[in-house]
Amino acid sequence: MSLPMLRIGLFGFGTVGQGVWKILQSQSQSLQNRTSREIQIEAIYVRDVGRYKIQYPELPFVNSPDAILNNPDIGVVVEVMGGENPAKELVIQSLRKGKRVVTANKELLGKHKSELFHEASLHHSDIYFEAAVGGGIPIIRSFKVGFSANSIQSFFGILNGTTNYILTKMSETEGQSLASVLSEAQSLGFAEADPTMDISGADVAYKLTILAAVAFKIDVGISDIHFEGIESIDSDDIAYARQFGYEIKLLAMGKQLDANSFVLKVHPTMVPIHHPLASVRDEFNAVFLTGDSVGEAMLYGKGAGSLPTASAVISDLIDIAFEGQGPGSARNLETNYRKVAVEKIEDQETRFYLRLNIQDIFGVLEKIAAVFGTNHISLANLIQKERDESTAQLVIVTHKVPEKNMQNAIVQLKQLVEVLSVQSVIRVGLD
Ligand code: HSE
Repeated sequence: MSLPMLRIGLFGFGTVGQGVWKILQSQSQSLQNRTSREIQIEAIYVRDVGRYKIQYPELPFVNSPDAILNNPDIGVVVEVMGGENPAKELVIQSLRKGKRVVTANKELLGKHKSELFHEASLHHSDIYFEAAVGGGIPIIRSFKVGFSANSIQSFFGILNGTTNYILTKMSETEGQSLASVLSEAQSLGFAEADPTMDISGADVAYKLTILAAVAFKIDVGISDIHFEGIESIDSDDIAYARQFGYEIKLLAMGKQLDANSFVLKVHPTMVPIHHPLASVRDEFNAVFLTGDSVGEAMLYGKGAGSLPTASAVISDLIDIAFEGQGPGSARNLETNYRKVAVEKIEDQETRFYLRLNIQDIFGVLEKIAAVFGTNHISLANLIQKERDESTAQLVIVTHKVPEKNMQNAIVQLKQLVEVLSVQSVIRVGLD
């Protein structure tokens, strides 16, 4: 028996929206066979209808969001415009009309998840957000359903396709600058409209707050999280990391220390070369997690791009199409996340890699060693390379030290006239 058609409205028709349309077209029959429902795009809101009509004359573009919000036949909206505004208002209005919302918008959820989930429950609706983290990897559903028997102890994620693509290309191609690889990533449709979101680590920080919610059932904002991007990584760091047996990855980390204390942070990290995350390349994403029953598990797949992200959106539409059709349909409603404090980065301990440009003169190492000594930092590896007649590059890997001590040491190193610059500071290992 065929059930009523699922009529959807799209807010936005960029990279992801076009992917959604393509998959709905190419998979139309198989989706109908699986869900007993036909899924049809009823209206697509874009700002410039004229421009899109030329390329897609057959598609139902509308130039006002009201054409979707006020259409009672549209039961589901797919928000793929990205950004905070006007997406937030459109999502709230949709929920108030009882429409289901599917969104790929990590910034929106990263900033407003509690408010939006509250609206959803007030209006007996729901928000589906598989596409907001990890592109095509079903990581949200895995935490909510697949690993739900577990208490999640920790997860480590490569969650930004653009920066992973950049780090990979910088490591494969000698001398490639961050800027030149970034423009490749933009043309492949991985990067955000404002790519500083990718490069600065903000995109990953938003995604981390979402994973923390589904993994630990906690509600944190990005202001609670220490995050850093890849701005200061250069190809020298990547080469030294290799020499020491590491790959540099921009990692999101979540750890539950006890019932009320959590580590959540994002920064470039030297991942041991034999760890599965070290082999995640290009725009691929991965999440490596540890649950108390399952032990270690890793999910891997494309984290950016039109069809991979649209694949996650469609999986949410399938879930909605199944609503009311039998057991399991209410499983998305668990969105009651509690507020907690996140461990301060100053209170954490890790190993560090430092690359310094120094004057190549008598006594310089002694002065640098004294800074480390004063701050109780013990060194594990040290390489000095002559750069020219008067300067050298000093690369250091430390044993585990409290973050506070290292921050003090960096301030003191910068005060030494013999230290020309502290070029890089990268945390080592998955602590
Ligand atoms: N700009 C994002 C990335 C898109 O590169 O991962 C997917 O969220």
